[in-house]
Amino acid sequence: MTAGNNAYYVTTAIYYANAAPHIGHAYEVIAADAIARFHKMTGKNVFFLTGTDEHGIKVEKTAARHGVSPQEYVNQIAQSFKETWAFLNIGYSRFIRTSEPDHHQTVGALWKLLLEQGDIYKASYTGLYCAGCETFTRQLDLTPEGLCPNHLTPPEPVEEENYFFRLTKYKQQIMDHIERNPDFIQPAFRRTEVLNQLEELEDISVSRAKRSVSWGIPVPDDPEQVIYVWIDALSNYLTGLGWPNHPQQFEQFWPANVHVIGKDILRFHAIYWPAMLMAAKLPLPKTVLVHGFITVSDTKISKSIGNVVTPEDLAKRFELPHVDPIRYYMLTSCVFGQDGSYTDEEFKNKINADLANNLGNLLNRTLNMLNKYFDGQIPRYGKEMITLLDGDTLNEIREHYSHFQFNEAVQKTMSLVDQANKYVNDQEPWTLHKEGNLEQLANVMYTVLEAVRQAALLLAPITPTISQNIWEQLGCMGNIEEADWRWIQGLPLPVGQKTHLGSPILPRLESEIVGAGKKK
Ligand code: MSP
Repeated sequence: MTAGNNAYYVTTAIYYANAAPHIGHAYEVIAADAIARFHKMTGKNVFFLTGTDEHGIKVEKTAARHGVSPQEYVNQIAQSFKETWAFLNIGYSRFIRTSEPDHHQTVGALWKLLLEQGDIYKASYTGLYCAGCETFTRQLDLTPEGLCPNHLTPPEPVEEENYFFRLTKYKQQIMDHIERNPDFIQPAFRRTEVLNQLEELEDISVSRAKRSVSWGIPVPDDPEQVIYVWIDALSNYLTGLGWPNHPQQFEQFWPANVHVIGKDILRFHAIYWPAMLMAAKLPLPKTVLVHGFITVSDTKISKSIGNVVTPEDLAKRFELPHVDPIRYYMLTSCVFGQDGSYTDEEFKNKINADLANNLGNLLNRTLNMLNKYFDGQIPRYGKEMITLLDGDTLNEIREHYSHFQFNEAVQKTMSLVDQANKYVNDQEPWTLHKEGNLEQLANVMYTVLEAVRQAALLLAPITPTISQNIWEQLGCMGNIEEADWRWIQGLPLPVGQKTHLGSPILPRLESEIVGAGKKK
């Protein structure tokens, strides 16, 4: 069972349905969306899955606090995720919700496979459970005060008869897989972390007594037990493709090319999930791509700290005409894989420098000159046409995108824009015009316009709205979302095409905000 050459399956983690999304969640889905858009441009048939993780004790407790049933509560939260994803221009193929009936079927079917395989057994368990992490924890993992290091809350003692999964049986196989497949865990520095965790592996409890957690998927043939929320959650990647009821779609897209996840849930994706798939005799995903955490002014985003920033907050705070500045900032403010810090000041400075000034001015000044010198039409160029984007740079940018190096891809694209601005300054089209050197003027204008067109295509996975806007101002037809990577070199601007100078792609952001969370 192998995915067809042309298929590309990208997923995000599914988000706990206990609070509306903030910029940390947005970061992950924007990265996955850029990956999906890039691969679509290179001719892949992309399936992009995202969604909400709706079961478990945490959601059950939050719903109770709000005085509504868990289902009512998750309906509201799933809706808010969908709205924010639409707002962020996320082009997913399916939004999966783990309370959906087909997901229950998938989880049940997977459970049965693991049971038949002899990898699930019953045993009694005494231990500690952190509801925040939805995981059993050990004394040695806690702070000296006995608190969960992630949530700074005490875990609850649990004594139950549960089902267990023979995780330890797969220890060597997983280690071998990691050793043999350097692309499996990216970036590479995360591999050591997983290999260390594998050293201390124990079997895991994969069910909870219904009296402790009722909001979940019952164990097949044992309704007093509920399937552990991580088994439930990880299975979403199979449900998303219709496993086991729609084998055709599943066989086309599985194994996943990339699961995009945050560093806090690496163990579940690099140990539990591969073991479950090995037990079910299904191929493993090709890459688990681990991103860092976004903080606000270097502080963890947290409701209790009161520093939660949502994408909608940013749009309002800076009166953004569209969300591309958010998408752009998120993917360029840090090296993908490392942590990133959001501050209003850096956001404003970066967006103004790169998008409003560098790119926006280039488009604006070029089309203004074109209106003046060539009545807004793409001019005929002479034989010595030069191109500012060489083949090597283009290949490098493609490689950066293929390796999830968004920041580097954008930096190289922005160098092209810099170069184009510098080229205009050096060539002085206004002087060429004054001197009546129309042939050279046409060459210069064409060269710059081509660089603008290429930059729009190169940035399209990250800033689709701005790219579309540039596309239209250049007089190009159609939707840039349908663009093909080969057009960057292979489809130059047609001579005589009428351009349409429009309003700037982005006004300068002017809000005088000093710290995150403070208003004007
Ligand atoms: N429901 C589980 C994942 C199950 S996947 C089969 C979960 N949910 S979560 O809502 O807590 O996190 C969802 C994703 O958002 C995770 O990949 C997590 O790392 C990411 N992020 C949550 N806060 C984040 C930041 N502040 N910054 C970057 N990513 C963050 O874990």
